[in-house]
Amino acid sequence: MNKFENSQLNKEQFGEDFLWGVSTAAFQIEGAHDADGKGASIWDVFTSQKGKIKNEHHALNACDFYNTYKDDIGLLRELNIPNFRFSISWSRIFPTGVGTVNPSGIAYYNNLIDFLIECGIEPWVTLYHWDLPHDLELKGGWTNRDCVQWFADYTEICATHFGDRVKNWMVINEPSVFTGAGYFLGIHAPGKKGITNYLKAIHHVTLATVAGARILRDKVPNAAIGTTFSCTYIEPASDKKADVQAAKRVDTLLNRTFIEPILGLGYPQDDLPVLKKLNNYILPQDIHNISFDFDFIGLQCYTREIVKAAVLIPYIGAELITADKRNVIVTDMGWEVYPPALYHMIKRFSSYNNIKKIIITENGAAFPDKVTNGKVYDIHRTHFIQDNLEQLLKAKNEGYNVEGYFVWSLTDNFEWAEGYNARFGLIHVDFETQKRTIKQSGYWIRDFLASNT
Ligand code: NOJ
Repeated sequence: MNKFENSQLNKEQFGEDFLWGVSTAAFQIEGAHDADGKGASIWDVFTSQKGKIKNEHHALNACDFYNTYKDDIGLLRELNIPNFRFSISWSRIFPTGVGTVNPSGIAYYNNLIDFLIECGIEPWVTLYHWDLPHDLELKGGWTNRDCVQWFADYTEICATHFGDRVKNWMVINEPSVFTGAGYFLGIHAPGKKGITNYLKAIHHVTLATVAGARILRDKVPNAAIGTTFSCTYIEPASDKKADVQAAKRVDTLLNRTFIEPILGLGYPQDDLPVLKKLNNYILPQDIHNISFDFDFIGLQCYTREIVKAAVLIPYIGAELITADKRNVIVTDMGWEVYPPALYHMIKRFSSYNNIKKIIITENGAAFPDKVTNGKVYDIHRTHFIQDNLEQLLKAKNEGYNVEGYFVWSLTDNFEWAEGYNARFGLIHVDFETQKRTIKQSGYWIRDFLASNT
């Protein structure tokens, strides 16, 4: 039987209060890179450098969401999706990162928020989705401890201007990805490398997460305050001790380094000795500023990784056996399609006592979608979403407290170093013409969310 037409899933199985949404990020969709006083971000600069992004793609226009947001929100409404997650571009609000506020930036997000509310769609705001103002990077960016205060000032302005209508906040998106790729490997903006940059960035981002959350608590009455983490289900390549230990180190780095201090558990230094070097950057007073009682934790899970020991790899002593070597189905990102990862990660994060609620703030897949006769038959994405929802439901039925699911993403968009090649949307975008075409996965969600038992 064709699962596409005959999924057994039913919206009611998830409960009346379950939150359904889509997620986006400013830099990936907005375009309008210098409109109305916006300053440059590290991603504007990184994408302008040769050889950084596949096919030299840039995001000067991206999906042009800055101008088309009303039409795109109209499509969101057509898909019956009641929650919309977007991020604020820091350099639209503060063109140089600090100092004078740009009133047009405030006006833009006010208009977007008002329009969402007018359409009956709940706004979910991420304060930081990787696009640091370039002028702050010139002062060291996240490697500079002052970044915590810069971020706090920016948070305060956002909370003051938008907090009357926005009640769902996420402070920082996927810290392990943007510090690892941007400050250690140098493959994302700002393109910095090395262990020192990386460790400083880790600690300052952790402090900023807490500083931002405290400001939101103070300034926004009745706010649901969260922050989002990437997570990947890690398995050892064999049951040999060396592989099991290597997998534990990778798991520590990817899944534990950022959340554990925030939950009051400290950095997991015993399981990943290189993190002991963080002590060089931790000041005595930081102990009071490193944890926060979040209302929810956003988990973003896409795949699993298989890990084997590799003594020559510095700091981690491990390497991934990438999916292309494992004879498994992969997405356009090269990531294995493995829906049980979501179940395992929900279970895993639920084992932390002080996580009150989990929301899956991103999940989705990139496939090579084509428009044929005006239609996009993206059966793989539809299955991916259905299979992941089944795993989520399994976890929920076992009593784990997972209360929402946001698809990444509404439209195809700028996928960082991958450019426009990796299409994640429920809606196809022709980047030449900006034409939107709802994919079959979008129609499936529309019908699923309209369904009654
Ligand atoms: C995580 C990030 O938050 C988002 O920006 C990215 O596009 C998706 N995952 C897919 O890679």
